[in-house]
Amino acid sequence: MEQRRRDSSRAPGCLLALLLWNVAWAQVRYSTSEEMNEGTLVGNIAKDLGLDKNTLRERKYRIVSSNADSLFHVNQNDGVLYVSKKIDREEVCAQSSTCLISLKTVLENPLEVHYVEVEIQDVNDNSPSFPEKEAVLEISESVLPGARIQLQAARDPDSGHFSVQQYKLSQNDHFRLEVKDKRDSGKIPILVVQKSLDRETAERHSLLLTASDGGKPPKSGQMNILVNVLDINDNAPVFIKDVYSVMLDENVPVGTTVIHVNATDLDEGPNGEVVYSFPNSMNQRLLKLFDINQSTGEILVKGLIDYEENEEYEIEIRATDKGLAPLATEKSVIIKIVDVNDNAPEIDVTSFSSSIPEDSRPGTTVALISVNDMDSGLNGKVICVVNEDVPFTLSPSIKDKTYSLVTKSHLDREKQSKYDVTIVAKDAGKPPLSSEKTISVVISDVNDNSPVFSLSPYTFYVTEANEPGTSVFSVKALDDDDNDNALITYHILRSEDTVSSFLNINSETGDIVALKSFDFETLKTFQFQVVATDSGTPSLSNNVTVNVFILDQNDNAPVILYPLSSNGSAEGVEEIPRNVNAGHLVTKVRAYDADIGYNGWLLFSLQEVTDHSLFGLDRYTGQIRTLRSFTETDEAEHKLVILVKDNGNVSLSATATVVVKVVEPKEAFAASDVKSPAKDDDSNVTFYLMITLGSVSALFIISIIVLIAMQCSKTPDYTSKYLEDKNYDGTLCHSIQYRSGDKRYMLVGPRMSIGSTIVPGSHANTLVLPDRRRRSEEVRIMHTVIIMPCSESDIFPNIYCQYIVDYAMLN
Ligand SMILES: *[C@@H]1O[C@H](CO)[C@@H](O)[C@H](O)[C@H]1NC(C)=O
Ligand SMILES: *[C@@H]1O[C@H](CO)[C@@H](O)[C@H](O)[C@H]1NC(C)=O
Ligand SMILES: *[C@@H]1O[C@H](CO)[C@@H](O)[C@H](O)[C@H]1NC(C)=O
Ligand SMILES: *[C@@H]1O[C@H](CO)[C@@H](O)[C@H](O)[C@H]1NC(C)=O
Ligand SMILES: *[C@@H]1O[C@H](CO)[C@@H](O)[C@H](O)[C@H]1NC(C)=O
Repeated sequence: MEQRRRDSSRAPGCLLALLLWNVAWAQVRYSTSEEMNEGTLVGNIAKDLGLDKNTLRERKYRIVSSNADSLFHVNQNDGVLYVSKKIDREEVCAQSSTCLISLKTVLENPLEVHYVEVEIQDVNDNSPSFPEKEAVLEISESVLPGARIQLQAARDPDSGHFSVQQYKLSQNDHFRLEVKDKRDSGKIPILVVQKSLDRETAERHSLLLTASDGGKPPKSGQMNILVNVLDINDNAPVFIKDVYSVMLDENVPVGTTVIHVNATDLDEGPNGEVVYSFPNSMNQRLLKLFDINQSTGEILVKGLIDYEENEEYEIEIRATDKGLAPLATEKSVIIKIVDVNDNAPEIDVTSFSSSIPEDSRPGTTVALISVNDMDSGLNGKVICVVNEDVPFTLSPSIKDKTYSLVTKSHLDREKQSKYDVTIVAKDAGKPPLSSEKTISVVISDVNDNSPVFSLSPYTFYVTEANEPGTSVFSVKALDDDDNDNALITYHILRSEDTVSSFLNINSETGDIVALKSFDFETLKTFQFQVVATDSGTPSLSNNVTVNVFILDQNDNAPVILYPLSSNGSAEGVEEIPRNVNAGHLVTKVRAYDADIGYNGWLLFSLQEVTDHSLFGLDRYTGQIRTLRSFTETDEAEHKLVILVKDNGNVSLSATATVVVKVVEPKEAFAASDVKSPAKDDDSNVTFYLMITLGSVSALFIISIIVLIAMQCSKTPDYTSKYLEDKNYDGTLCHSIQYRSGDKRYMLVGPRMSIGSTIVPGSHANTLVLPDRRRRSEEVRIMHTVIIMPCSESDIFPNIYCQYIVDYAMLN
């Protein structure tokens, strides 16, 4: 408590002056602090006004000013002024620097007004305070040091020294504080950026601003300042990895992920959002192969990756942020392509001789082959083989991946003229790929084969009386060679022999033309040689013997040898005695036929006769005999017309006329004497013919019997070689066995001319040779023609017999 009498320290004279003046002004002034408890003594008014206790009691002293009424009261008894309730200076006086409360007091009887002034003295009862507990500041990271941001000032209701005296900022590298003193609004704090801000280092800063007053001790107030650093796009995206390298199989499907690249951007928001792309400068070819997902950074396969085209790709990728002024980074991605066995080997025939001569030596090169596989490593390693069994092989060349196809063995065009050689190339990949190539090798001909006749020797049967100039037979030779080497020309080997001179051969066809007609009766068989020559260089030739047998035709009519009249006609007169007995030989008609066999076998028949009962004609011999004795009634002269016919298919005939005159015995005797020599001659011929034919038949039958007997009794020794036996005695109708090679033949019997009952083609003339070693043997009928003299008789040495012979061939 402080009591102050305003003028108590002054002289008493001055006090009086004050008392006079105090009707209008305060006469007493006190001072007290704010916030004093109720009942705190402020001052003794009675004493200061000079009033004693009695006066006070009589005149009633009181405070009349209404507003201050509640703040103070005066004790009526002693005139002391007390605080009636707590006074808040800031409330009563607001902001004014001195706070004076004026009290109007009255003293009655008489009314006296006294003004008392109470000065309320300030006490530091308020702390500085900020309008907000927390201030949020947003500062771009781009602000330069020195930038200033004015903050809100703190307020302190206390006045004077007790108001805000200073500010303080918490310890901080980036900011400092400046305080500006403005007269009317006090001290204002200013935040100064002292070091540049980096959002990426510190996104926000928290500061504490403290304001303190000048009290003792000082009171203070605080405010949090939150500085948010605003991002600017100051960071480019950064790829996470330094090097991107990846292996990629070739031929991977479109859409396969190659690699995932990832870039980060420290910036915030769009400034930190990264998009991926290929730079604009990127090769168009690469753009067709790869794609990038711009949001994920995935590199994808877009086209066909071919190792053979490129083994490695280096592609640039770019990461860009989405800032207003975007920042970008580029990076290389190395993509190594891994080879896959996707290429089959390729076979190339670099040189090829389409045909090689068949006499080429083994090892002759036919073709040069190069093999290529686009793959690398094992996938490109190729092995080449010839698959089939052909006389060719592959031999590797000095040059890599080149082979020569060479002959392995001797070639023979006649066996095989063309080879399709399949070459298989296979690589060593897994799984292996292979390819094939077929080369057609043609073997060209060399004249290494002579012409070969289809038969050797040739045997031809030509009927006589052929038409001159026509082809009678033909020979044919074949040559296994080709073209000219097989082109055959024929010629007849001319010899001294004249026969070949009337034969001509067509040099191309081998057809043989007879320039004249053959006559069996003059020439029965002949032989010549034909040479076949091919057109190769040098040419080769071969010859063949041709045996020709002329076959008889019935081209000769029987010729009557007897009877013959003097003028040449076949007429004769026979005289016989009347007394001859039956069976008397009247005469014998003799005839001759130049043909052989059936064509020359003559049969006689009576064509005309006056009396059939009187004469008989032997069919075979031509003998005319009486059948009975003559009687008186018989005519004296008889005419007999005898028909002589050969046995040709179309038979030819001649007639003879015999006139038989029956004479008395004497006449007859005389007549026979004259003609006997001729008659003997005739019967001789007939006799020999008979003998021949008879013996042939008899021998044939005997032979068969003997043969059968022999076969049954012992194992025969078939050593005779009938057909080769030049000393054959001419006996025809033997049954002959012979051996040729390891086959046994048996000539069973000729198809005999006269009286033969054997039918050609039937099995009647075949025999089975019983053999003890073999139980039953099959017999094959062979058929041939043998021409030889009819008999050993030299009467008709030029008469030949043609026998068609069947013989059995036993297997
Ligand atoms: C990229 O890298 C960041 C940081 O390592 C990671 O969070 C994010 O998942 C990655 N993105 C991809 C697509 O791998
Ligand atoms: C990128 O990848 C995402 C996630 O896999 C997918 O949704 C989007 O379609 C892709 N974008 C393109 C262009 O392929
Ligand atoms: C006929 O051929 C034989 C061999 O087949 C040969 O010995 C002979 O000399 C040839 N004759 C002629 C005239 O060419
Ligand atoms: C030949 O003489 C006989 C009588 O002896 C006679 O009948 C016949 O007509 C004669 N023929 C010719 C051709 O003169
Ligand atoms: C016999 O002649 C006839 C016709 O004249 C003929 O058809 C037949 O083939 C001939 N027979 C023989 C074996 O020559």
